[in-house]
Amino acid sequence: MYQVPQITSSIYYVGVNDRMKERFENVWSIPSGVAYNAYLILDEQTTLIDTVDVCYSDVFFHKLDILLEGRPLDYLIINHMEPDHGGSIGLLRQRYPNMQIVGNKKTFEMLRGFHGITTGLHEVKSGDALRIGKHEFSFLMAPMVHWPEVMFTYEQTNRVLFSADAFGSFGALSGHILDSHLGDRQAYLEEMIRYYACVIGKYGPFVKKALVNMDKQGLDVDFVCPAHGVVWTKAGFAEARQLYDRLSSDEAEEGVVVLYGSMYGNTEQLADVIAQSLAASGVKSIVCHNVTKSDPSVILRDVFRYRGLIIGSPTYCGELFSPIENLMNLIRIRDVKARLYGAFASHTWAPAALKRLLPFADEMKWEAVGEGVEMKMADLPSILSAAWSLGTAMAERLKA
Ligand code: FEO
Repeated sequence: MYQVPQITSSIYYVGVNDRMKERFENVWSIPSGVAYNAYLILDEQTTLIDTVDVCYSDVFFHKLDILLEGRPLDYLIINHMEPDHGGSIGLLRQRYPNMQIVGNKKTFEMLRGFHGITTGLHEVKSGDALRIGKHEFSFLMAPMVHWPEVMFTYEQTNRVLFSADAFGSFGALSGHILDSHLGDRQAYLEEMIRYYACVIGKYGPFVKKALVNMDKQGLDVDFVCPAHGVVWTKAGFAEARQLYDRLSSDEAEEGVVVLYGSMYGNTEQLADVIAQSLAASGVKSIVCHNVTKSDPSVILRDVFRYRGLIIGSPTYCGELFSPIENLMNLIRIRDVKARLYGAFASHTWAPAALKRLLPFADEMKWEAVGEGVEMKMADLPSILSAAWSLGTAMAERLKA
């Protein structure tokens, strides 16, 4: 007989998998899909935490029907209003017209805007509590992680934190819901970093503040239930939390991303020499990304992960190669901090790219490392030594 997955004896996973969309937010690739997580708590009063993308509302409502067995839904707690979670709220209200909607002031502004709902609201602030029987919820505002209305909900009886997008990962759930049941938790941790880099990374200081507030509240958690991806048990959450602490503090691993564009393979040769120099100098983690081949979300993930970044571009139409310019803009708007930066370029008759690349260090308030390398007319032998020196300088600075 069909069983809805459970987190505890009374907390059910009622989220859905989306393996149909090519791209999350119509931007970021999701080769393994994505899960929109929602949770139902059965007690004297029934309570749902978040909904799902409206494309999956039928699947979602079917799960609620199975569990509620004709009971009404008493509360909907909204941790986050973005349509991948809030998309089904309007339809849910039609099915359960007496349902009270729990959120904060900003939630309700968005609820009115997205769904025209202005009644049956129960407004909460940080520290407020809501008892539904044996379960008691408390609320912790987490503004700008990564929208202004975001809040976390903590269930005190079972020590479960419902954390909105925080600690969420790309990747649909293949049967298992809890990280402790997975053969390989690492894949979700990698996808958590990619989700952070693409969706949340710009708001690192706010994430840090939310983590500090969690600590101040002394929240003891047995389960962390994010809005995407696996549910973390205590041990898994310790790892996820460590990663979040690092990412939100702009702490990076010792490693280098060599990011380059190449029209005919010549700038790529230069990238390879620099990577070999890094390797010869003892750098263990080196990732080379050809900007027109690597997925931008994977490049961003690695830029967030590693401390060194060396960018190379050919001159194109008297400017940077446009895919490199686009990627630099993705990094720029995420305000990635505290990187060590080097640059290299190639041209035939107009040496423009290096002039555009070098100021990126100052703009981002990063430390420039080594001398910029400029190759003319694919004359690699003449700049081999300069390229090698750039790799060596980066390696030495990384280790310093
Ligand atoms: Fe998963 Fe910010 O929505």
